Amino acid sequence: MKEEITNLRNQAVFRINEVGSVDELEKLRIFYLGRNGKLAQYIKAIKDAPKSEKKSIGVLINDTKNVIESLITNKKNVIKSTVREWVDMTLPGEQIDTGSIHVVTKAIDEISRVFENIGFVRRRYPEVEWDYFAFGSLNFDKWHPARDEWETFFVESMEHPKYGPMLLTPHTSSGQIREMQKARSRGDDVIRMINISKTYRRQSDASHTPMFHQFEGLVIDKNLSIANLKGTIDYFMDSFFGGKRKARLRPYNFPFTEPSFEIDISCDICKGRGCKLCKEGWLELGGAGMVHPNVLKNGGFDPRIYRGFAFGWGVERVFMMKENLGIDDIRTIYSTDLSYLKQF
Ligand code: PHE
Repeated sequence: MKEEITNLRNQAVFRINEVGSVDELEKLRIFYLGRNGKLAQYIKAIKDAPKSEKKSIGVLINDTKNVIESLITNKKNVIKSTVREWVDMTLPGEQIDTGSIHVVTKAIDEISRVFENIGFVRRRYPEVEWDYFAFGSLNFDKWHPARDEWETFFVESMEHPKYGPMLLTPHTSSGQIREMQKARSRGDDVIRMINISKTYRRQSDASHTPMFHQFEGLVIDKNLSIANLKGTIDYFMDSFFGGKRKARLRPYNFPFTEPSFEIDISCDICKGRGCKLCKEGWLELGGAGMVHPNVLKNGGFDPRIYRGFAFGWGVERVFMMKENLGIDDIRTIYSTDLSYLKQF
């Protein structure tokens, strides 16, 4: 019986070597090691063997079982690891989305570049500010409607003993006095600032969002006139809009400039015919004017010696008026609709 078992083992080793698939190996496993397999038959036969051999036959069967079992398991693993999944190289690859710069950031970069080319220096000032910098120092009357809380967001129960209530900046003009004070503390008497920051007002419709951006130019020097202001505006219009669009200066009133203007641009959506965005063919981009003497004084500049001009426009509006963009509702710029935003 021992010889038979040894032969069986040799035969099994040989056959395991020969076969090439997991299925065939499984068949061999059942044939040798299964409940009614070859080895099970020898185990049953032990009881008929001479007493002196029973133990050594048991050991032999057990060894044979271990050998066959481990050979089959190893070979199964080898086969599994060498069988490759079939890959169709002609299938289109998976598209991985890459992030991109938001249109407002792009517009800010472009506006900065246009002004930096003519010597302006980019600045940012606090967006949560005291009343004094946003209104008081800019010659606003105590009862000016912009102070009304329907226009400006105030920060509840924050009040400075000297600078008044705290608010979210409703315009970037709040940076004017800060810039003048900074220049003065450095001993500078010439300013060419472009301040681009977030601004907040209580409005939301096709041409307003409660949070938007403004860019504020402030120039202070000794011999400045409206001609310098007009020249700067024309330069910006040509650089940013490519010289094809019309701009108009409309007399207006701001407490911190005298004289004051509003600047309109011919609407690109309706080409000047009038639409839901512009209403009458012109879209207001923002204000401008010569710095009021009281403001110069508050900033530490003697109005008998120094002149200034300033302008403050909306970044989103300027961007919307670029040729053929077709954005007719400012709120869509802040939508989270990626397929829309990816167009720009
Ligand atoms: N701050 C004004 C506004 O937001 C615009 C402005 C800036 C006007 C500078 C004159 C000079 O409407």
